[in-house]
This record gives sequence, structure tokens and C-alpha cells, in this order.
Amino acid sequence: MYVLGIESSCDETSAAIVRMDEGRRDICANIVASQIDTHRLYGGVVPEIASRAHVEAISRITYEALDTAGLSLSDIGAVAVTTHPGLIGALLVGVNFAKSLAFAHNIPLISVNHIHAHVAAAYLADPDLRPPFLALVVSGGHTSLYCVTGETEFEEIGCTRDDAAGEAFDKIGRVIGLPYPGGAALDKLAYEGDATAFKLPSPALAGSELAFSFSGLKTAALNLINSANQRGEDINRADLAASYTATIVHAIQKKVDLALEQTGLGTLVMAGGVAANSHLRRALGDLCQRRGVKLVAPPLSLCGDNGAMVAAAGYFEYMAGHVSDTSLNACAADVM
Ligand code: KG4
Ligand code: ZN
Repeated sequence: MYVLGIESSCDETSAAIVRMDEGRRDICANIVASQIDTHRLYGGVVPEIASRAHVEAISRITYEALDTAGLSLSDIGAVAVTTHPGLIGALLVGVNFAKSLAFAHNIPLISVNHIHAHVAAAYLADPDLRPPFLALVVSGGHTSLYCVTGETEFEEIGCTRDDAAGEAFDKIGRVIGLPYPGGAALDKLAYEGDATAFKLPSPALAGSELAFSFSGLKTAALNLINSANQRGEDINRADLAASYTATIVHAIQKKVDLALEQTGLGTLVMAGGVAANSHLRRALGDLCQRRGVKLVAPPLSLCGDNGAMVAAAGYFEYMAGHVSDTSLNACAADVM
């Protein structure tokens, strides 16, 4: 069946069509209208501006997706939309649009959790992927570990106590003058620096808990930058990027290693915008090779927010019988 996926939880408006059947996962169209250039002027996402930009883009890109796929709405078997978590005003645009489309054309409407959608990108990357597996979701809003026991069954077994890895990258990127969002720019800059130049506190909390805290790391890096400024010196940005990235990557690798040990799972899925980080991809690749675990790392185009992952997650929700009615609403929190 063809599933239309609609994503508007943050700063990308996306519409995609995927063809999903047993053993078949084709991305027929995946159109992403990014608002990054707009938000870059403010150093971060401005929710009101994000909502307005979604309103302007959503109809156009949905029809562009249909055109690209060579399909019409009568071919679509389900409309899947991200309903939570995210910026509430931004989510409401996608939810209202999907509702109107679904009910005007008599197509089943499916509610999708954004985090589950990030994980579902892995099914598009690897058609043979089946639960159970361990999923690491690292994004602008999340750093969590899930034991995925079924396509729609997620048990959170670890998370961050405060900031997410993506937020930690973006904050330091901004302070050292890199364009928003800082994650991708820090990734590149880190290759030019010495990862041992600065000793920073690990975001992996001590002990056997699968827990992270990024606030201490962020503060330590800010203190280094501020003290250099007070001495009238410029901090070596490449060294900081390399040390900061290595500290985050090492912490995530450590907790993933522990999670694999504790769960005994033989497959790891990495997902979310920060899963595009080349240092993290290499570190988790090494870890999985050492442990004899299969790693599924979606291509970069499926790591950031996109409609194809929403459509993939929506397919599984549909197959599980989870169809919504006209009362469907959006919710900023993780749980509806
Ligand atoms: O999943 P995503 O597109 O949106 C959320 O659901 O939050 O993730 C966005 C985050 C941003 O913090 C961005 O800086 C980060 O993903 N990111 C990266 C890289 N590419 C994007 N972080 C580190 N390295 C990258 N290459
Ligand atoms: Zn996301």
C-alpha cells in the first residue's frame, strides 16, 4: 500500500509517499522544505515563525510529493501524520492538514509518534529489519534508548535527565560562532582539531543506569570559552569541537555498549538528526563489529526530520489497527 507521511513537528515541513508491503519498502517521494535558513537569523527555532512557514509550505509539498510519485490521492491507502512530541503550533499545522485531507478523501488517518518515526527510518534503510532490537534515538530533543519488541512496541530503557545531544551540539556551535544548527558544522570542524586538547565531563552518568546528563558538559565547555575570552584569548575552536564531539560520542558509545550487554539484543538501530554525526556512526560501527551486533544506520537523508519515516511508522500503526477519527489532536509531550 501507498502511505502519505506528513511531518511538521519542528523546523522542517515534509511530505512523503512510501510503498510498504510485506518485504517491500520503496520511497516514492520524500520532499523536505527546510526552514533552517529562516531560523538561522535568530540562532534557533522561533516557534511562531515555524508554524507560519509550515502553513505556507504544507499543501504545496504534499502535491509535489504526489506528482513526484506519479500518484493521486485515490492511490493513497493511509495518511500518517506526526502528532507528538514537538512544538505544539507546528504540530497542529500538520495534524489539521492531514485530517482535512484524510476525511475529505475518505482515507484512514494514522497518528504517529515522532520518536517512533525516527526509528522507523531504519525499516526503509533495511527491508530485512525485524524487532526485537535496541534503538538509540539522538536528536535535537531526545537522547534515549529503547528496547523495540514489535514495530509499534517501544520500551524506553534509558534517556537524558536534561538536555539532548543535539541541543548540546547546537549550543556550543552557536557560542563559537558556527551557523545554526551547529551539529553538522561541529562534525566537520572536529576533524581539524585535537580530541585530547580539553578534558570535559562525560554525559554518561556513572553506574549501571542507562542515563545521560548533558548540562554539566555544556557548562564546562562554556566556562572554557568564557575564561579564554576573559584572558583576551580566542579558544582553539577546532580543538574544542574535537574534544567536545569525542566526549559526547564516547558517552553514547559507553551506554549503548551497556544496553547491548544488559538486553542481549543482536541488532542496534541508530536514529535521529544526531545519528548523521560521522564520528558517532564510526564509533557505533566499531562497537557493533567488536560485539558481533548488526548495526542499522539510515542514510543521512533519513536521519533528520522527514515524511518518509512518518509514513513508515504510520504503515505499522495501520497494520496494528491504530486508526484515528476526527477528534485527533496534537500534543507537545512524548505521550498523548
Ligand atoms: O531529528 P532532528 O532533525 O530534529 C529533532 O527531532 O530534534 O535533529 C536535529 C538535530 C540538531 O540538533 C542538529 O544539530 C543535529 O540534529 N545534527 C547533528 C548532525 N546533523 C544534524 N548533530 C551532530 N552531527 C551531525 N552531523
Ligand atoms: Zn526529529
